[in-house]
Amino acid sequence: MGGLKVYIQHVFKVLDMKMYAISFFGLGRVGLTMAACFASRDFRVIGFDVNEEKVKIINRGKAPFFEPELDVLVKDSVEKGLLRATTNPSEAILNADLTFITVGTPSAPDGSIDLRYVKSALALIGESLRHKENWHLVVLKSTVVPTTTERVVKPIIEEVSSKRCGYSFGLCVNPEFLREGSAVRDVFKPDRIIIGEFDKRSGDTLEDFYGKFYGEETPPTIRTTPVNAELIKYASNAFLAMKVSFINMIANLCQKLPGADVNVVAEAIGLDKRIGSLFLKAGAGGGGPCFGKDLAALKKFAESLGASTSLIDATIQVNEQQPLNLIKLAEKHLGNLKGKRIAILGLSFKPNTDDITDAPSIKLVRGLLDEGAEITVYDPKTMENFRGLFGNSIKYAFDATSCIKGADCAIIVTEWKEFKNIPPEIFLELMRTPLLIEGRRIYPPKEYSKHLKFEAIGYSP
Ligand code: UDX
Repeated sequence: MGGLKVYIQHVFKVLDMKMYAISFFGLGRVGLTMAACFASRDFRVIGFDVNEEKVKIINRGKAPFFEPELDVLVKDSVEKGLLRATTNPSEAILNADLTFITVGTPSAPDGSIDLRYVKSALALIGESLRHKENWHLVVLKSTVVPTTTERVVKPIIEEVSSKRCGYSFGLCVNPEFLREGSAVRDVFKPDRIIIGEFDKRSGDTLEDFYGKFYGEETPPTIRTTPVNAELIKYASNAFLAMKVSFINMIANLCQKLPGADVNVVAEAIGLDKRIGSLFLKAGAGGGGPCFGKDLAALKKFAESLGASTSLIDATIQVNEQQPLNLIKLAEKHLGNLKGKRIAILGLSFKPNTDDITDAPSIKLVRGLLDEGAEITVYDPKTMENFRGLFGNSIKYAFDATSCIKGADCAIIVTEWKEFKNIPPEIFLELMRTPLLIEGRRIYPPKEYSKHLKFEAIGYSP
């Protein structure tokens, strides 16, 4: 009798296993990574993007940018027919139950959020929904300042589709926390899911979808209002950026304090569970497509409400200054940098990505060019992106050793694994003046300073 009951429960479970068809609007780093991850677990996924070239590359089974593990997932899913990209928006709405909006939300010139991509995605979605009979769930993943979903997203879809939110279609805000360089892992193992729902059916459907995607490994899920979900994303990024700026402030203090080392301080304070050990790595400062733009947007938004932004202001100010501290360390040894040869190792805003958006390397190279230095750069993944910004004003090396050859100063700006294996002897042998400046703390200072003139962020011998 017990066996029969288990069997019946199993049959009901299988019948209940409705597999959602999913679509994405925007196949950038967030959209494509999620699309490929969902498809890898047998969901049918269609991705819409306005960029024809990108759509072609994806349909050939490739990722149009570098992200560890993503190429394999895209290739497998496209070959199995589970992932397809299109430039036809109605195809992505009519063949899906659930649509994620994953377009970028860049900064306007005054730092406020620029919603132009969100608005054009909404117009396309609304137009297609007009012709759809079934209920459809729209899920906003793009980062938007609080109240945007209520004031902008919902009215545009309602107006263009002539349908009512909560009746003919559902709407949720579902911020994404994946990090570049570990994006695939972050999609499969997020710390939490945040669902900001307009109505119960929308929230239930999204929670049910994630339940099917994650199964027994479903992370803690918070269901809340859209405005809370919007704010949670900004508060998370602002807090993380604040941690980085905090430890960089302590690092700058350590540099003026003989015998101090920020790495030891960070390790010790991180053991306090109330502080935590992550995001306490001092260095050249934080960058990337989110930190700078989200802090700027949160600041503008808070100011528009007359709320204080003091901690955001301080976080931005420390972070802007941090790459320039590397120039001060070079000047300490070389004096005037005019005509001095500086080798820059690492350009991407962090390792394992080819993204240079808002990277500390850009601020550093601009600062060094202003001082009249001659610059040679090397990065394992993003040379072409950097060339697009700096053209012939700097030189580009084929590898790390040719980058440092003949240099007066080498600066580590991104902690790529391959740089960690360069022994001090190589710097000594190849450089004109063996001055090494460590912006990411990848070398043991005591060992390297035995051989070289050595400076590191947050380290004072
Ligand atoms: C960030 C958020 O972490 C992620 O949740 C959100 O979805 C998008 O923005 P990402 O931009 O990929 O992710 O980078 P992240 O790993 O957060 O690092 C941001 C910057 O801070 C990098 O330049 C990194 O080098 C720097 N950083 C980070 C430090 O300098 N020290 C640290 O301890 C951590």
